[in-house]
Amino acid sequence: MTPFEPLVSPASHASLASADGVWTHLRLATKASEQAAIVVADGKIGWVGPRADLPAEFAALPVHDGGDALVTPGLVDCHTHLVYGGQRANEFAMRLAGASYEEVARAGGGIVSSVRATREASEDELFASAAKRLECLLAEGVCAIEIKSGYGLTLEHERKQLLVARRLGEAFGVTVRTTFLGAHALPAEYAGRSAAYIDLVCEEMLPALAAEGLVDAVDVFCERIAFSLAETEQVFKAAQRLNLPVKLHAEQLSDMGGAALAARYGALSCDHIEHLSTAGIEAMRAAGTVAVLLPGAFYTLRDTQVPPIAALREAGVPMAVSTDHNPGTSPALSLLLMVNMACTLFRLTVPEAIAGVTEHAARALGLQATHGAIAVGMPANFVLWDLREAAELAYWVGQRPVRCVVRQGRVALHD
Ligand code: NIG
Ligand code: FE
Repeated sequence: MTPFEPLVSPASHASLASADGVWTHLRLATKASEQAAIVVADGKIGWVGPRADLPAEFAALPVHDGGDALVTPGLVDCHTHLVYGGQRANEFAMRLAGASYEEVARAGGGIVSSVRATREASEDELFASAAKRLECLLAEGVCAIEIKSGYGLTLEHERKQLLVARRLGEAFGVTVRTTFLGAHALPAEYAGRSAAYIDLVCEEMLPALAAEGLVDAVDVFCERIAFSLAETEQVFKAAQRLNLPVKLHAEQLSDMGGAALAARYGALSCDHIEHLSTAGIEAMRAAGTVAVLLPGAFYTLRDTQVPPIAALREAGVPMAVSTDHNPGTSPALSLLLMVNMACTLFRLTVPEAIAGVTEHAARALGLQATHGAIAVGMPANFVLWDLREAAELAYWVGQRPVRCVVRQGRVALHD
C-alpha cells in the first residue's frame, strides 16, 4: 500500500496556529441570544462569559473574530471500535435478506470475521484505515475519542490495535482513551473453551497491556452471543486488581443483568442498554454510572427496543450519545448524525443530546475535568458552528456546519 501521510502529523499539530487570545462574536449554545467571549491563554480556557463582562486585563490580547458563530465544547465520541481491518458490507446485505445479527454471528460472520481481517493487517495498514475514519469525526468537531481493542483477541493483535489507537492520538493531536475489550468475542481457536479464553484475558493479556501503558479502561461484551455475567465479573476483578476503571456493553440484545454488575464495580458507563431493567437503572444511578446511548447500532440493526430513556431521565442517570463506530453494527462516522438519531429515535431533547456528546460523554471516559465543557482551567477544546440556534445541531442531516475547531489549544480546522 502507499505510504500514508496523516493530515496532521505530530509536528504539524504543534505548528498549527495557537488559539491564544480573545475569541469574540460568539454565542454559547447554552445561551445563544447573548454575545459571549472566550479567553484562551497558554492553550487553556482563561475566561468565558458575556462579552460585556470581559475583564479589562484581557482587552489587549489578540482577537479572533468568531463571526457570530454558535459555540459548543469540543465533541467527545465516548464509544468507538475505530481500529480494525476490512469491512463487513456483505453482512449488511445478509441482514437485508433477512438474517439477524445473532444469526450472522453464529454463521461465522460478525465480530470474528473482523478479527480475521485485523490479524492479517499490519500496524501501518490499521493506522491508515483508522486515520481516514478519524478525520471524518475530527472534521465534525470531535476533540476526544475512545478507541477499543477487541478485534485482535490475542496479546499480539490486541497490542497492535491499542498501539494504533495511541499513535492516532499523537498524530492528530486529539485526546484518545484506549479501552481493552479482549472479551469482545470468543476467538475461533478457543471454540468451546470460553473459560480458558477468559483466563488468558485476565491473567496474561490485560496485565501485560496495562503494564505497557496501553489500557485506560476495560470493557466486556456481556451477551448471549458473547460472555456470561460470571465471565464479565472475572474480567472486572482483573481490572480492579490493576486499578483500571471498567465499562460494559450491557443489555443490548437481552437483559443479562450486566448493568447492575458493572455498577457494583463502579463502572464509568454502561453502553447500548436497550433491554436495561429498573434494577439496572437504580444501580447505575447509585454508582454514578453514565448511560451511553448508541442510536447508530440501534438503527443499523433495525432494532425496535428503545432504551428506557424516560426512566433514565427520571432517575437522573447522565446520558451520553456516541457513534459506536464499528464495521458490523454501526458504520457511522458522524457524531452529529447520532445527535439527530438520539432525538428522533430515542426522543432525547436537544439539550440532552448536546450534553450527551459533550459533558456526559466526557464523564463516560473519566475526562470530565478536561473535556466536555468550556470552563476556566480546562484545555481549550471548542467548536464554532455556522448555525443560529442549538437545535440546528440536531436538526440538519448531512450538513457540514463546522466553521472552526479549536483542539487542545490550537486552531485545528477553519473554513
Ligand atoms: O458495540 N456489541 C458488540 N460490539 C459492537 C459490534 C461489533 C461488531 O459487530 O463488529 C457493538 O455494537
Ligand atoms: Fe460497541
